[in-house]
Amino acid sequence: MIRTVATKPYDDQKPGTSGLRKKVPVFQQQNYVENFIQSVFDCLEGFEGKTLVIGGDGRYFNREVIQIALRMAAANGFGKVMVGQGGILSTPAASNIIRKYGAFGGLVLSASHNPGGPHEDFGIKYNASNGGPAPEKLTDAIFAKTKTIASYKIADFADVDLDTVGTFSAGGISVEVIDPVADYAALMESLFDFAAIRKMFASGFTMAFDAMHAVTGPYAVEILEKRLGAKPGSVRNFVPLPDFGGHHPDPNLVHAKKLYDLMMSAKAPDFGAASDGDGDRNLIIGRGIFVTPSDSLAMLAANARHAPGYAGGLKGIARSMPTSGAADRVAAKLGVGMYETPTGWKFFGNLLDAGMATICGEESAGTGSDHVREKDGLWAVLLWLNILAARQEPVKAIVEKHWAEYGRNYYSRHDYEGVETDAANRLVSALRAKLSSLRGQSFRGLTVETADDFSYLDPVDQSVSSNQGIRVLFEGGSRVVFRLSGTGTSGATLRVYIERYEPDAAKHGIETQEALADLIAAAEDIAGIRAATGMDAPTVIT
Ligand code: G1P
Ligand code: ZN
Repeated sequence: MIRTVATKPYDDQKPGTSGLRKKVPVFQQQNYVENFIQSVFDCLEGFEGKTLVIGGDGRYFNREVIQIALRMAAANGFGKVMVGQGGILSTPAASNIIRKYGAFGGLVLSASHNPGGPHEDFGIKYNASNGGPAPEKLTDAIFAKTKTIASYKIADFADVDLDTVGTFSAGGISVEVIDPVADYAALMESLFDFAAIRKMFASGFTMAFDAMHAVTGPYAVEILEKRLGAKPGSVRNFVPLPDFGGHHPDPNLVHAKKLYDLMMSAKAPDFGAASDGDGDRNLIIGRGIFVTPSDSLAMLAANARHAPGYAGGLKGIARSMPTSGAADRVAAKLGVGMYETPTGWKFFGNLLDAGMATICGEESAGTGSDHVREKDGLWAVLLWLNILAARQEPVKAIVEKHWAEYGRNYYSRHDYEGVETDAANRLVSALRAKLSSLRGQSFRGLTVETADDFSYLDPVDQSVSSNQGIRVLFEGGSRVVFRLSGTGTSGATLRVYIERYEPDAAKHGIETQEALADLIAAAEDIAGIRAATGMDAPTVIT
């Protein structure tokens, strides 16, 4: 039976760069989930009888929301739902399923790298038929709908058993519970030289992969240990837990410190890596060397030809604006296009769909390619493994040779979390107001060449996205960027991105914060961060 239920709108259901993200208790309010899902469906056209993909990262509230989504998909006229066993689908795996099976779209349930649990974060994101996050036009329409919604449609049927693979019928539609790993593993096998990587592991190569009790556990065990022969135990924390074991499933140097410490110790394996809550981010650490995500993007692009899936060369490279310019130098050398987009993976979608870019990346540990329309943590790990197997050199040697060839982009991001929202907005407005006067001024001996608020003209659909972050570029190619996070769920987070280009190989061994000290001081002089936030130091430095 299908019911139409009267409801009242909420005013806070604006999807951000990665969907709607709120604390679990917010999602648990009456009809909150239903309102949002109905608003999504109401903004879509032509899905009658088509397939919807549903899956999540296994965090607290995942299963409950999946049952609601199934009943609403049936009531709204979808013909079939494909859902990952146990409610599990990593974000890149969901993107692959949507594309591979020609689904109309998908609901991805995750709050990415944010903590999970009864008082932590949850999220719902809609992905379109290309497998990528909904474009801004659609998320704006969804938000508008949430503000006027008066009713939703839901079918009445008992909970679907999510733990048994198979096809069931419920509410007049077909529900297929699928193995979340199989299609993804097959895709990886089609892109990378599994035989060469297997040989490398067989000859004694060692690695540590930290799944952080999040979604990549089952994927990593199957691919790294079972198919590629990494020693059992190479994958750590591989059981997905609703609260990620009480940790932040964020693969950065703060939350994956144990892995970092191991990789810097005498007992370090050859290669260390981690992924986040929903499996789209990656952390890459060689023995004795952390590879910044910006460098990793550049190095993966420069060496991609070693993997069968990219042997034909790259069509182009894309990076988000705050990501370092290291990849730009690789694009120039390869003679391919380079695109600088606003923060957020969705901006890469058009470039990938149009065949203008093959590899994309963000400084926030997101890297991926045109194989799906999301960033992909394990993909990055496997491309690194493929390159290591082909080049037969340690990570450290590959990194240092890259710097010697292209120059080094010293890079760091300083985050100020939990800033009072008004204070953060005031800081940004004040910066905006003085942009034109910064030009020509000197700070700590560095002269400002240009300063602007980044605006992007999409070369495919000609849409314009403005106010995407304040860039202060100094003479010589150094820069600082200021922007407010669009993914936080409480207060504001100010991100300050600092970059210095050093062509001289004799100066590539400086500690990063030291190499950036003058720019860090200049950023403080320009923005008055301490006074505005009341904080003496960033909460996270990556
Ligand atoms: C952050 C990252 C951004 C990434 C997004 C989703 O967004 O900075 O690169 O695309 O998470 O994973 P932010 O909080 O900075 O808006
Ligand atoms: Zn994520």
